[in-house]
Amino acid sequence: MVTTLKFRNNDEMPILGLGTFRSEPNEVYNAVFFAIKMGYRHIDCAAAYGNEKEVGKAIAEAIKQGLVTREDLWVTSKLWNASHGEENVIPALHQTLEDLQLNYLDLYLIHWPVALKKGTEMPERASDFVPLSEVPLTNTWKGMEAALEEGLTKHIGVSNFNENHLKEIMATAVHQPEMNQVEIHPFLQQEALQSFCVQNDILLTAYAPLGSLVDENSTLRLLENDTIKTIAEARHMSPAQVALAYTMQRGIAVIPKSINEARLLQNLETLNHTLTEEDMAMLKDLDQEHRFIDGKFWEVDNGPYTADSIWNA
Ligand SMILES: NC(=O)c1ccc[n+]([C@@H]2O[C@H](COP(=O)([O-])OP(=O)(O)OC[C@H]3O[C@@H](n4cnc5c(N)ncnc54)[C@H](OP(=O)(O)O)[C@@H]3O)[C@@H](O)[C@H]2O)c1
Repeated sequence: MVTTLKFRNNDEMPILGLGTFRSEPNEVYNAVFFAIKMGYRHIDCAAAYGNEKEVGKAIAEAIKQGLVTREDLWVTSKLWNASHGEENVIPALHQTLEDLQLNYLDLYLIHWPVALKKGTEMPERASDFVPLSEVPLTNTWKGMEAALEEGLTKHIGVSNFNENHLKEIMATAVHQPEMNQVEIHPFLQQEALQSFCVQNDILLTAYAPLGSLVDENSTLRLLENDTIKTIAEARHMSPAQVALAYTMQRGIAVIPKSINEARLLQNLETLNHTLTEEDMAMLKDLDQEHRFIDGKFWEVDNGPYTADSIWNA
């Protein structure tokens, strides 16, 4: 199994990282500390997760105890939607760096191609949004490029961008985006987006690589799928390991979230397994373009964004 993805300057990002979304501040400290102790070297964060201070404390403690150095770690964070616009990027990144107790990030991403009024956490009404016609993605990208040039982050990229969003910023970029972080798992394989990214030297990170378990009412459960369970049994793996291995063997990074020590270890140990070509072919057939994180939370009455416009326009 390949264990890193290579950036254009040959920097290597561990292909398996730790997700921190919906990890409560009191839980995330232990999760990050134990993860580093057991060998994780890549942590996926975001200002919007409301827990970067605790993530930062855990990283600082791990460094203090000599478990790792800053250079051993790959830390990603994301610009929240309320900080779109060239002039807002560096101040937002400074806050994230302060919270994480770091002086640089390895990778900084625009979290969504959706802009919100300053100070908005989650929008409730149309007036909480700013349309992209008023704050174009190309303008926000200039702020990302400035952050890169100041050395506040080693790489820049985007998240939840479709092919057209990428083309829009690529047309005028001085520094091209190097990463697109999107939902990917066996039920949502994003093959067309992957081909576009491969052609344009953009790496992919899969969020919700285990199916997120966010929608408790959903009858569709990735880890309970029969094909995944059958392969798991045959290969002495868990269903989660099969899901993670499949995506990694497609050349895509994964950032499974867990706050449970046994599951953190299980996810990391996926790197010790390899699926066969036959397994890969069976898993390829599971694609059903199913999004667990459907983007409908950006839809409000008379608002400027719809899930369809985000994924497809
Ligand atoms: N860019 C974006 O817009 C975006 C959106 C969503 C997520 N993300 C990033 O991607 C990361 C992962 O996505 P996610 O957190 O939505 O979902 P996920 O990693 O697919 O699934 C997390 C869920 O799976 C459980 N789990 C973890 N390991 C397991 C295992 N081995 N067996 C069974 N269950 C297991 C976790 O519970 P326990 O904690 O109890 O183990 C949690 O409920 C996030 O944490 C975040 O960093 C980014």
